[in-house]
Amino acid sequence: MLTIKDKTFVPFIDENRLKNRIFQLAEQINQDYRDKEPLLVVVLNGAFIFAAELMTHLTIPCRVTFIRVSSYQQTASTGVVREVLGLGEPVTGQDVILIEDIIDTGLTIQDVSRQLTGQQPASLAIATMLFKPDALKVPVNIQYVGFEIENRFVIGYGLDYDELGRNTKEILVLA
Ligand code: IMP
Repeated sequence: MLTIKDKTFVPFIDENRLKNRIFQLAEQINQDYRDKEPLLVVVLNGAFIFAAELMTHLTIPCRVTFIRVSSYQQTASTGVVREVLGLGEPVTGQDVILIEDIIDTGLTIQDVSRQLTGQQPASLAIATMLFKPDALKVPVNIQYVGFEIENRFVIGYGLDYDELGRNTKEILVLA
């Protein structure tokens, strides 16, 4: 059990299950990209531990870069627009694998994917540690999913509650 501020979290996905599943995802990526040299684009902050663990199991040549997403309200009908910050150079011609911690409404990954697709990568795939299918609001094509979970708030292994709780070896859920 873990208490952060006013909330209590209880164990949800333990370290073993998490690590085994991430290993399986890495094996799948090794297979799918066996003749390629993908660029992993890690969406900060939440995905940093997942990305690190995944990458240690990749045996193909690969590069990594990090992006941050800033959200702001736009008056246009599109609503929330997110801008990708920190991508040093365009991903044109590269086999990109976007690495996310969790896909909830899908809006973040949709915006990021659109912006990267605009730079004409050779291919674009999405890998997420967690996916909440019941919360999804927009269609997203996800190639690698660690765990599909119910629509509940989780923390740990990189995921935060109010910037706290990222530093655990397991995923916990709001009690
Ligand atoms: P989306 O745009 O709604 O898919 O949200 C994606 C982002 O929301 C993730 O990258 C997380 O930062 C955050 N998020 C969504 N669900 C959770 C959760 O259960 N715990 C912690 N952060 C979450």
